[in-house]
Amino acid sequence: MKPAHEYPSADGLWTGLRLATDAGIEAAIAVTDGMIRWVGARDVLPAEFASLAPHDGGGALVTPGLVDCHTHLVYGGQRANEFAMRLAGATYEEVAKAGGGIVSSVRATREADEDTLFREAAPRLEQLLADGVCAIEIKSGYGLSLEHERKQLRVARRLGETYGVTVRTTFLGAHALPPEYAGRSADYIDLVCDQMLPALAAERLVDAVDVFCERIAFSLEETEQVFKAAKALGLPVKLHAEQLSDMGGAALAARYGALSCDHIEHLSAEGIEAMRQSGTVAVLLPGAYYTLRDTHLPPIEALRAAGVPMAVSTDHNPGTSPALSLLLMMNMACTLFRLTVPEALAGVTVHAARALGLSSTHGVIAEGMPANFVLWNVREAAELAYWFGQRPVRCVVRQGRIAVGAAA
Ligand code: NIG
Ligand code: FE
Repeated sequence: MKPAHEYPSADGLWTGLRLATDAGIEAAIAVTDGMIRWVGARDVLPAEFASLAPHDGGGALVTPGLVDCHTHLVYGGQRANEFAMRLAGATYEEVAKAGGGIVSSVRATREADEDTLFREAAPRLEQLLADGVCAIEIKSGYGLSLEHERKQLRVARRLGETYGVTVRTTFLGAHALPPEYAGRSADYIDLVCDQMLPALAAERLVDAVDVFCERIAFSLEETEQVFKAAKALGLPVKLHAEQLSDMGGAALAARYGALSCDHIEHLSAEGIEAMRQSGTVAVLLPGAYYTLRDTHLPPIEALRAAGVPMAVSTDHNPGTSPALSLLLMMNMACTLFRLTVPEALAGVTVHAARALGLSSTHGVIAEGMPANFVLWNVREAAELAYWFGQRPVRCVVRQGRIAVGAAA
């Protein structure tokens, strides 16, 4: 995949489109200076846009650029051996206790230099981009020291610049206890809050702060300490919450105005109500649910009834979700979690953008927004969730440029 400066401009008048929300009428999108100036039915196009250079969509369905709002894309090595261990009967927690799990990726990440991490992450990012992703969150959390967390976050920034894709970085220093802090969890959380986070924030490497709140990771009190440090720096928070057990993390995160609570298989009614009140997005991660052969479903019906926005993401990581297709996650969200197709599509666009604080630039096709949209070789939106292993992208317009494929 070429670097961003080689992509042609998407400026012009895009016609022959069908909006996923109203596929019956021909739509048009006018783009100038990389921004959407107008979108609507072709037959009411304002005259001022009629003479723009034409891009014929050839009847393609068009959606907003996809947003992958929860990934751990930058890491060293891979963990196929753990896949084999789990197939032989070991649980995720047993693998972690046997020296595998997150800390084995920490070892490999610490050993790799920045260029190596970039070279290994780039093809993974290319896979996601080829599926229509226009914005992505990338977490740290496999470095667990200032030096190595910095390395991961710098690679995340460099990926965004190289490929012309919006990258939101999330500092996840509180992902696991590094081996050198064994038995000294409180000391490590002090290091995260007092040294790592302020230093990385000063280097403008942190867009949000996350914690893995779980009995095999960090407690509710430790989570709150990290949230306080984030708030003191004016950074938004999010949380790996209630994945394996109900820790009350979602309600705590909601009190801190969290952008999102993610995983949430064991989310309680109180957690849902707190998220509703704070406008926190529920991020569903069917790839991790599937890989761990989990059977405890997130409370979809209650979230729906409460009107909590639901996003869907890959959770790409080498342990629990080595997934490289957001379309496949839409399929799994429908099949495993019983989302409707419009819910799954909103989950990878408008709600995912909100989970990253990107509502004003991503997730919808609207006047005044940067041009991020995808033309698909499908007849109806349901096909985006229906096929799996298929790659129906015809053309991706990302940051005002034609990044993948071409119009008709
Ligand atoms: O989102 N839950 C914690 N973090 C990752 C797993 C990381 C790993 O196993 O390497 C997740 O599933
Ligand atoms: Fe995760």
